[in-house]
Amino acid sequence: WENDLGSKMQVFKVGKDGTFSGEYHTAVSSTEEPIRLSQLTGFQHLDEDEQCTFGFTVNGKKFSDSTAVFVGQCFNGDDRKEVLHTSWLLREKVDSESDDWKATRTGRNTFSRI
Ligand code: BTN
Repeated sequence: WENDLGSKMQVFKVGKDGTFSGEYHTAVSSTEEPIRLSQLTGFQHLDEDEQCTFGFTVNGKKFSDSTAVFVGQCFNGDDRKEVLHTSWLLREKVDSESDDWKATRTGRNTFSRI
């Protein structure tokens, strides 16, 4: 899958209970460190209409102290191509509790199959 920022993710086989894992390669970063591959783990509903909701966490521990969580839903577009509409929260590590207020960013990403 690739999103509108150019980030790529690979999702491995979804388990019978809806759990899945995969790899996330972000195209952008708030850190100064070189970007590296991150792990992801998530859970999806297994609805037969294939328009399932899901959530997953991305842990960029190899280059970042942040944690990102995504929630979304799969749709079949007008062209019958699958698309994932997601919203995310990105939690940055801050040094003190007084900086807590500025530690969370939010946004939206759309993913298409590549
Ligand atoms: C960091 O900046 O600390 C780690 C990388 C975070 C990448 C974020 S997650 C939400 C947004 N969507 C992406 O594809 N990349 C950014």
